[in-house]
Amino acid sequence: MGRKLKIFGISAGPSPASRSELLLKAALDEFSKAGCEIEKVAVRDINISFCDGLRGCEKSGICKWKDDMQILEGNILSSDIIVISSPIYFTSLPAKLKAVVDRCQVYWVQKNLLKKSGPEPKRGIFISVAGREPDFKHAEIIIKAFFNVFNINFSDKFYLSNTDYISNKQFEEAVGSVKKLIKEVVK
Ligand SMILES: Cc1cc2nc3c(=O)[nH]c(=O)nc-3n(C[C@H](O)[C@H](O)[C@H](O)COP(=O)(O)O)c2cc1C
Repeated sequence: MGRKLKIFGISAGPSPASRSELLLKAALDEFSKAGCEIEKVAVRDINISFCDGLRGCEKSGICKWKDDMQILEGNILSSDIIVISSPIYFTSLPAKLKAVVDRCQVYWVQKNLLKKSGPEPKRGIFISVAGREPDFKHAEIIIKAFFNVFNINFSDKFYLSNTDYISNKQFEEAVGSVKKLIKEVVK
């Protein structure tokens, strides 16, 4: 029997009951039902320093900050599929998730300046929710750049607008759509 697929979920939601995190949970539950190994980290629970932009990593290929970024890196590198779920804040990603993305500069340096060979290609899924009807493209561009440094192919997305207005029934329909999407992914 082959190795179980490992799925790593990253939540930028403010609580386990937040809509973005409930959609991530629906996705991870569906992967679990299909026999995949699941790991999940909420960025609210981890300690992340901001990239100071002083470019020390450009020579060494090493980031000076020693914090929970290593937890994310380890899980990303050991997973086959990465699922990120985030609310939209001011048309973009919440600041703490953006801080995680900025910290990936060291991986960009390793890949593009130091020409280190990258990880095997992986698959990436982005789930996002927004209170009104924003354009999800700003967040999507950032997530694509984040995926790119880890050789993650942006393969699927699920966006839900008007979360500040929709009924529970409409939200449950969205949960059903996410489950359907994951069923297709693991087919
Ligand atoms: C700081 C902040 C900024 C927000 N900015 C936007 C925005 O630009 N566009 C939008 O449609 N909704 C915006 N919202 C609404 C959230 O996207 C919406 O409530 C979403 O459901 C929150 O995700 P959650 O349920 O996972 O917490 C904002 C909410 C907060 C707290």
